[in-house]
Amino acid sequence: MLQEKYYPNKEFAKQARIKNMCEYQELMDWAKEDYEGFWDHWAKEKIDWIEPYDKILDESDAPFYKWFVGGKLNVTQQCIDRHIDVRKNKAAIIFEGDRGDRQIITYLRLYREVNRMANLLRNEFGVKKGDRVVLYMPMIPEAAYAMLACARIGAIHSVVFGGFSAEALRDRIQDAEAKVIITADGAYRKGAPYMLKPVVDLALEEGCPSVEKVLVVQRNFEDVIWIGGRDYSYNEMIESQPDTCEPEVMDSEDPLFLLYTSGSTGKPKGVQHSQAGYILWAQMTMEWVFDVKENDTYWCTADIGWITGHTYIVYGPLAAGATTVMFEGVPTYPDAGRAWKMVQELRINQFYTAPTAIRVLHKMGEHEPEKYDLSSLKVLGTVGEPIDPPAWKWYYDVVGGGKCAIVDTWWQTETGGHMISPLPGATPVKPACATFPLPGIMAEVLERDGTPVAPGEQGLLCITRPWPSMIRTIWGDPERFKKSYFGDVVKEGQPVYFSGDGAVVDEEGYITITGRVDDVINVSGHRMGTAEIESAIKKHPHVAEVAVVGRPDPIKGESIFAYIVLKDDVADSLGEEVELTKEINEVIAREIGNIAKADAIVVVPGLPKTRSGKVMRRILRAIAKGEEIKQDISTLEDPSIVEKIQEAVRCAGC
Ligand code: WT7
Repeated sequence: MLQEKYYPNKEFAKQARIKNMCEYQELMDWAKEDYEGFWDHWAKEKIDWIEPYDKILDESDAPFYKWFVGGKLNVTQQCIDRHIDVRKNKAAIIFEGDRGDRQIITYLRLYREVNRMANLLRNEFGVKKGDRVVLYMPMIPEAAYAMLACARIGAIHSVVFGGFSAEALRDRIQDAEAKVIITADGAYRKGAPYMLKPVVDLALEEGCPSVEKVLVVQRNFEDVIWIGGRDYSYNEMIESQPDTCEPEVMDSEDPLFLLYTSGSTGKPKGVQHSQAGYILWAQMTMEWVFDVKENDTYWCTADIGWITGHTYIVYGPLAAGATTVMFEGVPTYPDAGRAWKMVQELRINQFYTAPTAIRVLHKMGEHEPEKYDLSSLKVLGTVGEPIDPPAWKWYYDVVGGGKCAIVDTWWQTETGGHMISPLPGATPVKPACATFPLPGIMAEVLERDGTPVAPGEQGLLCITRPWPSMIRTIWGDPERFKKSYFGDVVKEGQPVYFSGDGAVVDEEGYITITGRVDDVINVSGHRMGTAEIESAIKKHPHVAEVAVVGRPDPIKGESIFAYIVLKDDVADSLGEEVELTKEINEVIAREIGNIAKADAIVVVPGLPKTRSGKVMRRILRAIAKGEEIKQDISTLEDPSIVEKIQEAVRCAGC
């Protein structure tokens, strides 16, 4: 049976950049017939080059693809300078603080702030092209200034999400060998101050010899420790900086930023993005997928610590000359109407958030949106995890009033920008379906041997041609880059990019993402490696073995379920499992951060292992779900362990 389809709003479609499926198909056909010509056209039309490139795509060292080879540009000219002539007094960033304070940052002011910060980094701290700068920042305008200031002078930024612990921050500082850290004393959340600087202090306590300076933005003016010669106040230093700064001339392929993300091993990967290809696709998808127009106000609720914050709060909107809203707080404070109140007051036209947030807002206030005037909304976006049909329907009917396009955008840290998504004026959508690849993106659902799966069958979601905004390498580990993304699926003798996600294509070519097929779990849109959480838990002195799996969760999408085997000498004496659970979550919070805390921790007598010692996670996933075990367990070293684990889960009440 064919699923129900929702067609684009006719009035909207008329004015959209891509107006119907014929136009979509024409673009796609063009890309298929003349791939390089397609990208050449857009690169020339969209980017303000300092010097033109002499080769569109270099595939000679695959999978280390190079785009727009030899071209020179500076991403901040694309995002700021070129707008000064035409929209200097337009709001570039509208900032709303947790407590309701607002700032309007015009393009001219953005230009001045970014240049001043760039001068500070270059002239006072000696930051040079290619140096790494780690940002550990709250959601305040200075976070965007800092990213752009780095880009201005050719430094490579690595933003670390503010919810990561000191240990996790230290790992990332060390891996990137950062010279400078930019942070804030703290910021505000749910009406109260919280702190970041003390976490930086802890991270730098040992093993970070590369770090020379720490720049501290004073946001909440709470007391922090200042270490002489290392820590500097941004607020004090910035006043005296000149507000023009010569942009560094960057090569298309110079790294723009690193962003660490989880994979299937314990060590996070420093995903490296380039200058030209990244900014081109950030801008194009901003225009195609959100269809942002000159007078629109666009709001993405992500945190700048994730790729969504990079591409769709900072780089994409600014490259497109849009007005981007930056919000310090949470959409549920002071109540479930906060987000809708902001939409009403700021007349938001495009709203982009995660399924988890939609489910929370739905649960907290099913009819809350009806109390506000949301008539300004045109496009509603979702990202980060599969959205379920009930959440989709609520978003469509109640938030969008049945007249907004919903763009379910599938992409990843590694893809730099949207890959599979409806086009708001063109694509007839099916609820909870990412629909079709964007023009120029060759996405296919394949078997391992590169053959396409039959309609309705699950396969591996692959991108079979390189694209401009793709990951270039893993910082410091090119071999791992090859192995992680170009090792699993081979099409016509050529390894192709495999995303780690499973997907299904229906008879009409609609692609639905089914979720990760590797050992990565997705909790509230946060991507986490089970191996990373397991190695954190192993640091608890009583833990002998551990296996972590994801369990479906009605709000978070997935939650973390940990099976623990205790060391022999503590196994009997330990009656206090509640204490142990608490302690293990403390270890996780210390090693990774609160976002990785487990919802269920169960002590079991052993793990289900094959004779070769491999843990059968499928069985653990089924037990966590409370499912009957239907698979063959006779290959297990000790088949009786399954029942014992089930018993332990039952006793623990999980
Ligand atoms: C993983 C990437 C892309 C920005 C946020 C997350 C999942 C992402 C969707 C979607 C179903 C999705 C995938 C992907 N994912 N968007 N629309 N439908 N799943 O970036 O942390 O790199 O995570 O998020 O599993 O692989 P990320």
